[in-house]
Amino acid sequence: MRTVSLPERPLTVAYEEQGEGPTLVFVHGFPLCRWMWEPQLKALSATHRVLAPDLPGFGSTDAVLNLGIDDMADIVCEFLDAAQINGPVVLAGLSMGGYVALAFARRYPNRLRGLILADTKSEADDSTAKQNRDKQIAGLRDGSITPDSLIETMMPKLLAEGTRNNQPHTVAEVRRIGSAQPKEGILAGVVALRDRPDATSGLAKIAVPTLVIVGEHDAITPPEGAHKMASAIPGARIVTIPDAGHMPNLEQPERFNAAVQEFLNDLATS
Ligand code: MLT
Repeated sequence: MRTVSLPERPLTVAYEEQGEGPTLVFVHGFPLCRWMWEPQLKALSATHRVLAPDLPGFGSTDAVLNLGIDDMADIVCEFLDAAQINGPVVLAGLSMGGYVALAFARRYPNRLRGLILADTKSEADDSTAKQNRDKQIAGLRDGSITPDSLIETMMPKLLAEGTRNNQPHTVAEVRRIGSAQPKEGILAGVVALRDRPDATSGLAKIAVPTLVIVGEHDAITPPEGAHKMASAIPGARIVTIPDAGHMPNLEQPERFNAAVQEFLNDLATS
């Protein structure tokens, strides 16, 4: 693990870094941290400088109260500055990380060389989703929901049935990562997710090559929505990962990495 302090605010960001070459940055989903990108750090660092920061409140980066998704995009940009990455990067985000990547694309288009949106969506929460977030917030506050119980409840939605039945190591890995997240960070994260703005109107303005990835059995951000999002982004391509749910980077890492690598190869020659 490495750390870098942001000059703009009292925050030290924890991150992983591996490899040399064009910069590829991975932003994790909820309620997880940089650890979820281990298979990508390992494989894609053969050709790229790969970084995976912990968003505030997750992993080893301290929580910041009242932080929205746009603020998280600002922090990713400040993180790049602090790590002295000045040229444009390929930014990849999964689910919550995708919300952050979409906010980054809107706020810092000149810092992007390419965009990878995995198992995510542009729409804000509807009223039912907001009510569910409110219940989670109340449960986290009164202690009836813990990091352990939250990840257990989410498991059937995070991982495809086939993964849960046949890949105990993947289930154990998601459990390990989810259980390790600090409660305050999870709480702040749910608030940010509930209050995130709708990013749909920004899709048509994305001017960098974009890859949308979705797990065939994603129950949180299903393929149908991913196709809709991809068709709203000029020139975007979409890859569906078979035998995967909401976490194809962990459920089918080789297929996920191959899709990313092909996109990166095409970027290098375009
Ligand atoms: C995630 O995987 O980051 C979350 O499921 C996103 C969400 O709950 O909206």
